[in-house]
Amino acid sequence: MSELSAGFLDKIKRVKKMTDSQEEVEGAMTPLQLYERLNAQGEQVRCLKTAKAEKAEIDVAVQLLLKLKTDYKHLTGQDYKAGCPPPENVVNQDNGAATDGIDEEDNVDPWNVSTSNAKGVDYDKLIVRFGSSKIETELVDRIEKVTGQKPHRFLRRGIFFSHRDMHQVLDAYEKNKSFYLYTGRGPSSEAMHVGHLIPFIFTKWLQDVFDIPLVIQLTDDEKYLWKDLAIEECHRFAVENAKDIIACGFDVNKTFIFSDFDYMGSSPEFYRNVVKIQKHVTYNQVKGIFGFKDSDCIGKISFPAIQAAPSFSNSFPQIFGGRKDVQCLIPCAIDQDPYFRMTRDVAPRIGYPKPALLHSSFFPALQGAQTKMSASDANSSIFLTDTPKQIKNKINKHAFSGGKDTIEEHRKFGGNPDVDVSFMYLTFFLDDDEQLEKIKQDYSSGALLTGELKKILIETLQPMIAQHQERRKQVTEETVKQFMTPRPLNFKL
Ligand code: TYM
Repeated sequence: MSELSAGFLDKIKRVKKMTDSQEEVEGAMTPLQLYERLNAQGEQVRCLKTAKAEKAEIDVAVQLLLKLKTDYKHLTGQDYKAGCPPPENVVNQDNGAATDGIDEEDNVDPWNVSTSNAKGVDYDKLIVRFGSSKIETELVDRIEKVTGQKPHRFLRRGIFFSHRDMHQVLDAYEKNKSFYLYTGRGPSSEAMHVGHLIPFIFTKWLQDVFDIPLVIQLTDDEKYLWKDLAIEECHRFAVENAKDIIACGFDVNKTFIFSDFDYMGSSPEFYRNVVKIQKHVTYNQVKGIFGFKDSDCIGKISFPAIQAAPSFSNSFPQIFGGRKDVQCLIPCAIDQDPYFRMTRDVAPRIGYPKPALLHSSFFPALQGAQTKMSASDANSSIFLTDTPKQIKNKINKHAFSGGKDTIEEHRKFGGNPDVDVSFMYLTFFLDDDEQLEKIKQDYSSGALLTGELKKILIETLQPMIAQHQERRKQVTEETVKQFMTPRPLNFKL
């Protein structure tokens, strides 16, 4: 199946999901899975009420609970009762081959990420749907061998879980044919959240271990087109976000950061590539991939070509001297994949190599892995501007717990790290594998309580974010200008 057809298939499934969601919930979960999901949601509502969370947040959780109860009734013909799991022989009459599993509930695109599964998106099934390849241990070992460096914890723990053509990149690298990195950020606000750091932390590691150039696109034009913001605001956010990105430690001699508003107008080569891409992708194709509607402005419809253009090395003649054959590798979360499915489809038709990709999973919202951390919901996110007190309060108040209702029950039955947001966050940021494993064991056995787990997370995130803020303070306007000036970079290809 081609990458574009994988995209169309995904789109068809999403449309089906929108029109047919009731049946999909039923088909996607067994009665027991739905019963367990209801238990977890009931617990979340109780926790929110106990913690005196904001009314709006409680209302959302209650609405989901009610929806799940309706689904349960529809699926089993019985009312949900806590403590009474469905009998084994309860079967939904329509529950046959209608759907292919729980992933039917997963919705992943550049604007939305949601699933009904408390453990988060089913990434294995997403790989099949998107037509990418799993990052197997063999690939992680190969990266270790080629770079001579211990793999980053995001690779060791499967946080970067999917790829396109990474073996091909390594084959060429082993034959002394180098490549460049490309990643980006849509500057929709001044403050970035911790989830946004994931691709940048990993990109910095890739830049260090492979010693290669990097371009970072700030799509201030995208945010102007999609949000109710002025052009000047989007551009200002781009510059502010550049400071957070620079604070991740990128090498100024090997990194070019650009705002679309600034660079598009100043680089004929970049714009030529944008137009070439626009000529080779039809309206029908972008509608299929991105779900654009007739009422969407034409700026949105043509924007994907602008996110695609940095994948081609001759968009940056000041860096690659007009070469069009330098391979590009794009690290990003998998929500951005639709842009690059389109890019990879168009690349050979305009005479360029297809970019390779490394996809990460999502850093979850505080409320649970059913959705990703998102800047548009302040309570779902820990921002890079948060104070130690805000971090502590947000985690204590909002981080969804996999613990039991009472200390006695927790000690007896243990907690569930698979749905516990504090534990998930530690998998992203606690580097020590042994310590992480011990925390998992202790939490699962009940030796470690939810409050204690949250304390470990708070003590991990507070210094990490304080250090980030300190590094950001050191980033002057002059430094930003250096990174954002089109210029040659220092590297050997
Ligand atoms: P944006 O600003 O939404 O996100 C920036 C980067 O962060 C990733 N991301 C996350 N990763 C893990 N957990 C999360 N909760 C989370 N939320 C966001 C995104 O996948 C992205 O890698 N259109 C893009 C900007 C862009 C871009 C690119 C991104 C332009 N060119 C090339 C990646 C690669 C956007 O709005 O990203």
